[in-house]
Amino acid sequence: MAEQKATNVHRHEGDINSADRNQLLGQKGATIWFTGLSGSGKSTVAVALENALHKAGRLSYHLDGDNVRLGINKNLGFSAEDRTENIRRIGEIAKLFVDTGVITLSSFVSPYCADRDIVRALHDEAGMDFIEVFVDVPLDVAESRDPKGLYKKARAGEIKNFTGIDDPYEAPTNAEVILNSHEMSLDQEVEILLSLLSDRGII
Ligand code: ADX
Repeated sequence: MAEQKATNVHRHEGDINSADRNQLLGQKGATIWFTGLSGSGKSTVAVALENALHKAGRLSYHLDGDNVRLGINKNLGFSAEDRTENIRRIGEIAKLFVDTGVITLSSFVSPYCADRDIVRALHDEAGMDFIEVFVDVPLDVAESRDPKGLYKKARAGEIKNFTGIDDPYEAPTNAEVILNSHEMSLDQEVEILLSLLSDRGII
């Protein structure tokens, strides 16, 4: 857990709470956390789910690894320490979105179990839904897709600490959902997630 550096700071509660906002939106805020190798299909399924939710009149927002790293996390690289800080910040941002009532779709490699578990614990403590989705494809499948040409560069030694090549990926052991994007259609994946959201009373 990150250290609390500032002292003499106190939480200030407003009059409108999360339940009020959920009622206004007619849905429940929740985090759907996609984890998996680069090229596993995390963002693809998140975007498809976002489209389906939007069509159904549900408010969602996609926090995408590359996008967030071009903005709020532009000062972070890919060392273990920076990845941990990346995920910690996203976890806090996701919580803020959930508090507003938004269905938050986070797609980050998030290679370390401990980092993902911290985000889960943050949500649990706040009584918020956290659904971990492991987008599980074998490395050779992700590598053969290589949508950004990064595996090729990593194999050539042009990128160091690339997840799956010379940096670890710790597979989840307690994910709520496992999607095998090389064996399932995108529609099937979206259907699985929509049913789960409905079963949980999120939509
Ligand atoms: S995480 O490990 O900190 O969760 P994040 O999801 O934000 O990673 O960013 C991963 C994306 O950055 C990948 O999809 C890929 O496009 C790009 N990338 C660049 N360098 C690396 C690297 N060394 N390891 C993994 N992904 C990298």
